Amino acid sequence: MKVLIVGSGGREHAIAWKVAQSEKVDKIYCAPGNAGISQIAQCVDIGAMEFDKLVEFAKNEEIDLTIIGMDDPLVGGVVDEFEKAGLRVFGPRKNAAILEGSKAFSKDLMKKYNIPTAGYETFDSPQKAMEYLENSKYPIVLKADGLALGKGVLICSTKEEAMDGVKTLMLDKQFGSAGNTIVVEEFMTGREVSVLSFVDGNTIKIMTSAQDHKRAGDGDTGLNTGGMGTFSPSPFYTEEVDKFCQKYIYQPTVDAMKAEGRDFKGIIFFGLMLTKDGPKVLEYNARFGDPETQVVLPRMKNDIVDVFEACIDGTLNDVELEFEDNAAVCVVLASDGYPVKYEKGFEIKGLEKFDGQDSYFVFHAGTKLSDGKFVTNGGRVLGVTATGTDLKTARQNAYEATKWIEFDNKYMRNDIGKAIDEA
Ligand code: AMP
Ligand code: GLY
Repeated sequence: MKVLIVGSGGREHAIAWKVAQSEKVDKIYCAPGNAGISQIAQCVDIGAMEFDKLVEFAKNEEIDLTIIGMDDPLVGGVVDEFEKAGLRVFGPRKNAAILEGSKAFSKDLMKKYNIPTAGYETFDSPQKAMEYLENSKYPIVLKADGLALGKGVLICSTKEEAMDGVKTLMLDKQFGSAGNTIVVEEFMTGREVSVLSFVDGNTIKIMTSAQDHKRAGDGDTGLNTGGMGTFSPSPFYTEEVDKFCQKYIYQPTVDAMKAEGRDFKGIIFFGLMLTKDGPKVLEYNARFGDPETQVVLPRMKNDIVDVFEACIDGTLNDVELEFEDNAAVCVVLASDGYPVKYEKGFEIKGLEKFDGQDSYFVFHAGTKLSDGKFVTNGGRVLGVTATGTDLKTARQNAYEATKWIEFDNKYMRNDIGKAIDEA
């Protein structure tokens, strides 16, 4: 079978690596892909938002299954375009991807169906938002309604910061039309956990848990990024937490989407906060996490293509997801200066050390081939993942393997998985 993966990050490299292990798969294409992906798939020079070209390519090449990795094309309705052309595709349709595409939608859904989340108000007028913020409790959280590369969330400690925040999102439009509407949300504290799941419209099956590190600097300081490292499983995601979430969050979300006539097929990524009043939903994503995927898929035992097909066919109930009883840690190697300003084009050395290893992986994000050499080509460059019998061993292995790679400007956090010691 021929598979096409749409996206170009470390997440898509991990998906391609996992798909490549399926015996059913003869050939993998990736649009647009990156230098690492090109080692296991044929990269095609089509952007993730070029729906017509993607559909035409899939038709011409007789692609049997297309997997959409990224949020933008999903929210933009790429799945609908593939389905209209009679192609098999994995991911939610536009009317379901809104679960990630509009925070106002997702908050209203949770409220309507009693799914635990922070209290909130929605505003499409900056004046009304400012009036409300005059008499609010601080800290408070402002969120751009639409997609903003994970950067549309502002945590404001004071009224002044919040007023500035409204200006940034709604008047200066730092994230464009994503800030036409904002959600003002109660500030919560607790451990964060990322839970990815497969959904077939009715049935939901949870993957193993993970934890991300969103801030750029050690000790969770600095700006928010796409994610600087992850570990899996989360020791804070206990059986008790799982039981609560199964009952009050996971299935209720799938049922709510169905009740709204927005049947969800694909991945739901639950961003949870474990508060003292129980687990609450911070956000939903309609796709795999990056870099959560880089620690979850190396632990997954199933043939992932079977699971994708079961989601499309509505037979997920017959699938039992299985994960290794081990742990994984991913440390992102970034370009110094990320997420703001950084240089690129530096040669990456040491990648060959990962060849033939079965518990050390290097997933490419911002890399490209230049004159036959791998060079840096983005903020997040590589994700170095290692597995181990337990979290501490996995962490030690991952940091050991970060030393195998060299490039000018290499930057990483040195405290990925610090929370493991607090468990
Ligand atoms: P989101 O993109 O909604 O997950 O938000 C990005 C990050 O902002 C989350 O991972 C949290 O660390 C933080 N955050 C979002 N919402 C809240 C909230 N209501 N209370 C505290 N922190 C939050
Ligand atoms: N790592 C967080 C995300 O993928 O949104």
